[in-house]
Amino acid sequence: MMNAEIASLLSNAATNLGAEVPSATVFDALSAPKNRDHGDVAFPCFVLAKPLRKAPPAIAAALVEALQGPVAASPSIASVEALGPYLNFRLDHGARAAAVLTPAASPEVGQQTIGAGKTIGIDYSSPNIAKPFGIGHLRSTAIGHALANLFETLGYRVVGVNHLGDWGTQFGKLMAAFEARGDRDALDADPIQHLYDLYVWFHAEMKERPELEELGRAWFRKLEAGDAQAQAYWTEFRALSLREFERIYARLGVSFDHYWGEAFYEPMLEPLVDDVRAAGLLTTSEGAEVVHVGDDVPPCLIRKSDGATLYATRDLAAARYRYEQLEFDQFLYVVGAPQSVHFDQVFRVLGKLGYPWADRLHHVPFGHIHGISTRQGTLVFLEQILDEGKQRVLEFLASEKPDYDAEQRETIAEAVAIGAVVFYDLSRNRIKDYDFSWDLMLKGLKKGEKGNTGIKLQYAYARLCSVEDQYRERYGELPAPADVDFGLLGEPEAQALVAILERFDATLQQAAQQYEPAVVSRYALELADAFNSFYSHEDKAHYRIVSDDPTRSAARALLVVGVKHVLSASLRILGVPHPERI
Ligand code: ARG
Repeated sequence: MMNAEIASLLSNAATNLGAEVPSATVFDALSAPKNRDHGDVAFPCFVLAKPLRKAPPAIAAALVEALQGPVAASPSIASVEALGPYLNFRLDHGARAAAVLTPAASPEVGQQTIGAGKTIGIDYSSPNIAKPFGIGHLRSTAIGHALANLFETLGYRVVGVNHLGDWGTQFGKLMAAFEARGDRDALDADPIQHLYDLYVWFHAEMKERPELEELGRAWFRKLEAGDAQAQAYWTEFRALSLREFERIYARLGVSFDHYWGEAFYEPMLEPLVDDVRAAGLLTTSEGAEVVHVGDDVPPCLIRKSDGATLYATRDLAAARYRYEQLEFDQFLYVVGAPQSVHFDQVFRVLGKLGYPWADRLHHVPFGHIHGISTRQGTLVFLEQILDEGKQRVLEFLASEKPDYDAEQRETIAEAVAIGAVVFYDLSRNRIKDYDFSWDLMLKGLKKGEKGNTGIKLQYAYARLCSVEDQYRERYGELPAPADVDFGLLGEPEAQALVAILERFDATLQQAAQQYEPAVVSRYALELADAFNSFYSHEDKAHYRIVSDDPTRSAARALLVVGVKHVLSASLRILGVPHPERI
């Protein structure tokens, strides 16, 4: 806000000196001076050296001259000085705090319009049916959900698509396995476990009896040909799996606009292959049909020698269908880094088909989770993992919060466990691998422990809520921003908080530009730390937020509420639940 005003004044002044420099360029060059005694905002005059053909210190001197009038007229800029090649601005802290805290008094803070009228599709989570929802799909779910929330906050129309893996030869195998030793009762009792046991058994058995492989293929061909029994199995297995996934999505607060699974595109595959052929892109290689997409990438496999279509074929059809339906401005595929080549191939084929929207598709890759101890031959079920974390928190609450009733403990434990896993996943750049560890994820739960974790932010949020309550108990309703003397927020810790809040909108834009929820995570941690330095300041008497001084308390209450709203908006974007009490 302040920086935008400075940028526009500077851009005008530069124009008067003979250099047309857009205010956005100036804006990007603004930073905080290394030495905070020099001021609040610095502009390096090197940026104008070329267009003005002058040395930066001379430019700084000329700009100071030119800016005296506008700065005197501005309510929020206190002064401007030249220091060598730099211009340093000092802000009027009261005016700055008013400009920042007035919008932050609304829970809508952060809500923007830069995406208005634009549509962004996001393909995320997309687990494979008939396999348990493993830890591997957690990342896509957490990152995709955060990006969906982020773009919605920026005003985009966001369409969440779950590209369920509900087609392919693994279904044939599952049917063959069910025929061989399926158990109705076991299926009813714990469908996913039973389907998974069958799947594991079949793969182990295949090593001894290679003919099973062909049996699985035969079942899949039946399914493709519309065989009634095969279709009944497919429908049932899919519905059972989906029911399980939806239970996990509910716990994570995730929902999708569309479950357009791989099977959904089946009828669109023939026309797709025909179009690829008609475009002259199809070549035969060892009996298979492929598209050559460049020397640096292997050819994209469209149809196998036995006539079967592939994952890539379905992704090509899916992209066309999605564009027809959504006319998106961008479409994101939140899928692990090992599939980079796949998406590169698919996007290039679409480009070769001449679709102008092919370059609106982006793969958003992420790294692995290590360190989950797997029982032999089995995947780890996300749900069991979440339950384990929840159990740990419940034990902690039982000993530390004996006054909470069972229901309160239950709600808090669920929020803390989910928040721990989700925040940990989003707290480093998505491309990095990490080790799964409840100890690390829950660090900070116990008193005296320090960790940059979800629980730290949840504690901070609960603390903000309780300070706000204290204010209300003492003084009643919160003051209207217009009635508050923000000049009372003079402490460096208060100013630091205001400066962080001021960056919220820009931070969200930066996160969106990089498709990187970690930008928001780091911001939330920084905000919580800055709040804690005010709240836990050693000069307790001076830093008490709700005190006997009503005007000072009012100004601080609005600071607290601003921090609370911005922290809440950040956590909401990240998908981290944040109860008012912990
Ligand atoms: N089901 C796939 C997997 O688990 C991910 C699908 C991602 N989306 C897509 N359009 N290919 O590997």
